[in-house]
Amino acid sequence: MSSQDIPEENLPAEQDTPHGAVKVADEAHPFADPGLPPHEHRIQDIDERAAKRSERTVALLFTVSMLATIGFIASYVTIPVDRSVYIFPIGHISALNFALGMTLGLALFCIGAGAVHWARTLMSDHEIADERHPIEAPPEVKAKVLDDFRQGAKESALGRRKLIRNTMFGALALFPLSGVVLLRDLGPLPGTKLRHTMWSKGKLLVNMNTNEPLRPSDIIVGSLTFAKPEGLEEHDHGFQTEIAKAALMLVRIQPDDIKDKRSLEWSHEGILAYSKICTHVGCPISLYEQQTHHALCPCHQSTFDLADGARVIFGPAGHALPQLRIDVNEDGYLEALGDFDEPVGPAFWERG
Ligand code: FES
Repeated sequence: MSSQDIPEENLPAEQDTPHGAVKVADEAHPFADPGLPPHEHRIQDIDERAAKRSERTVALLFTVSMLATIGFIASYVTIPVDRSVYIFPIGHISALNFALGMTLGLALFCIGAGAVHWARTLMSDHEIADERHPIEAPPEVKAKVLDDFRQGAKESALGRRKLIRNTMFGALALFPLSGVVLLRDLGPLPGTKLRHTMWSKGKLLVNMNTNEPLRPSDIIVGSLTFAKPEGLEEHDHGFQTEIAKAALMLVRIQPDDIKDKRSLEWSHEGILAYSKICTHVGCPISLYEQQTHHALCPCHQSTFDLADGARVIFGPAGHALPQLRIDVNEDGYLEALGDFDEPVGPAFWERG
């Protein structure tokens, strides 16, 4: 409801203030609309020198933001990670973190402060009383909003105040660079690390559970045995990474039942050694069906035919399981004749 809708006798009394007469609510008219107080013009609206000063202040804030962003990038590149600095009353903290935090905070603060100062001192200062209206705006209101928006854009004087416009665009354009340099923290690319495992010629196959080297007689038809390379102990540094690449599963299939010729050549009397790591997204394969010679990954049910080169017969895996060529050494233990001939697991980017 506007003050025009209120009967004259219900309107509040007027009171003199330094800015002129203002209507005030009293006991008799507690909810009466007091209306807007007389408008007080800003100094920038009446003094062009004050407007110029504000313009320079806004430009200075945007410029400081640009410098802070450059400082952020320079700090990231030049300050060593292990350097510390004493800050009272916190104590010793990482110099790099301190510099990054301060410069990033300053860059953001100056963009915000510049925009607020610009709006408060230089943009349009018309006071408007807006009546309440239904939530859904009619088309003419929407059109008016668009007009007001255009008018606001015009009154912000972006075209006229080129110094502000250019420094603001500079600050906004430069700031995202802070995020780009942080991409370096994603770390180096794996290179050929995924292409090689611990397996090499002469490495013994060791039972994953008992830690004992395996003989051919340990692998019986129908069983599924997990193995690792000799010399890989659980307390070793990097054990998890190495075992995730080198884990092996051994099955024994009657040589006549092995359909793939190369698999047969790479086996020892029907003992086949395949990577235990699923080629879909790398879950460890743990189920084996003796009659069909199928190995099943429990994560998404990819199924591999171990009698046929471990090719995929079901599920989302894209590749057969890599096979390790094995033989028996002169002491009667199973040994590798080299590394896998292709990357293990879902290392699809490593495949030719
Ligand atoms: S990880 Fe094996 S099927 Fe998805």
